Amino acid sequence: MKDLRVGDVVEVEVERLVPGGAGLAHAHGRTLFVALAAPGDHVRVRIERVRGGVAFAVIAEIITPAPARIEPPCPYFGRCGGCDFQQLTYGAQLEAKVEMICDCLRRIARLTPPADIPITPAPDAWHYRARAQWQYDRERKRLGYYERGSHTVCDVAACPVVVPALQTLLSELRAAVAARSLPEDAHDFQGVAGADDAVSLAPPVWTDEVRETVRTIGGERYRFDAACFFQINHALLEPLVRAAIRDAHGTTAVDLYCGVGLFTLPLARRFERVTGVEANARAGAYARRNLMDAQLTNARIETAPTGQWLARHARKLAPVDLVLLDPPRTGADAETTNAILALRPQRIVYVSCDPATLARDLRALVNDDGYTLDSIAAFDMFPQTHHVETIAHLSRAQRELNEHRPAAA
Ligand SMILES: C[S@@+](CC[C@H](N)C(=O)[O-])C[C@H]1O[C@@H](n2cnc3c(N)ncnc32)[C@H](O)[C@@H]1O
Repeated sequence: MKDLRVGDVVEVEVERLVPGGAGLAHAHGRTLFVALAAPGDHVRVRIERVRGGVAFAVIAEIITPAPARIEPPCPYFGRCGGCDFQQLTYGAQLEAKVEMICDCLRRIARLTPPADIPITPAPDAWHYRARAQWQYDRERKRLGYYERGSHTVCDVAACPVVVPALQTLLSELRAAVAARSLPEDAHDFQGVAGADDAVSLAPPVWTDEVRETVRTIGGERYRFDAACFFQINHALLEPLVRAAIRDAHGTTAVDLYCGVGLFTLPLARRFERVTGVEANARAGAYARRNLMDAQLTNARIETAPTGQWLARHARKLAPVDLVLLDPPRTGADAETTNAILALRPQRIVYVSCDPATLARDLRALVNDDGYTLDSIAAFDMFPQTHHVETIAHLSRAQRELNEHRPAAA
């Protein structure tokens, strides 16, 4: 194995894209992760970092482009850390995402991936993001996203993945940067767009408080604002909720990491009792209001971290028909997965925005004594990036069911 050093340039063939979005290649007995690559690229790459037997590289020259490679349309691509898949045709992006999910299931969950993992494409691969976080560098008068792999602000005048209402908000904020009229202590801004292009901004700039906005998904009305979580790609939310809830119905359901109640409301129409658990008090308050506006009195929202809340109260909930969990990118903590296993719901629906943490948590949940992975489906909520939303349906493993079945008379 030749020693690879930072700054070395080597010629490689990119084999495939791996979880995290990088291209996998090999050179001098080392594994290389190549940023912004396409599978099949023949490239010269420059080593940026070496860690043990692994090196991280950037493309210095494209010798022969992969068939899936296209010219990235955004002028900031490569420098801006927001997107990392614009170099791929949309079809290749979808294929890579399914491959990444399979890779995580095999390597992390130690499961054989189902033969078919369907992926629902985004109706719009551009101008789809209804939520954005912009960084603000007051000294340099810059506003945009962090540059790739750094905390330097990339000054972005126009972003091709945000919805038009957010582009207008970005332009207004940039005019305020030029006029030095933004709050002294602001470092970043969260912007969200709802129905009729109504936007909400946190921290607020032109209003005293963070403004509320609203969105109707699958006939349910959700109020929310920029200071709490709401999903990014609204065009995919109706099929996402449908695929998560399917034909579920019964007595008791639990919605963990419930946010403003995206899944809590439809669950409350199908189950007699629903408990939502959410750590963010602001999101929890919206969830209660959204339930009240929908006149759904059979659901309650608990404001607490899921693990802590389940450790104290899970016993009172049993028996539970369905647990739906939709944690942040970090996945569920061990306290939460252990509590779910102890609760023994008939079915689990795991909605995830990171296949790696999903796979880690599936490793804890799926086994002969716990749950069977029935199906897994992907939704391309984040075109032009390597991120992907996944829904896994689990049911109680047969052995576990048999053990708890009353003996035949
Ligand atoms: C991916 S979002 C999902 C929200 C909601 N299910 C939806 O689809 O709109 C994750 C949510 O979990 C909340 N959260 C993060 N850590 C938590 C924890 N330890 N316990 C409970 N909620 C948490 C966040 O505030 C956020 O609202």
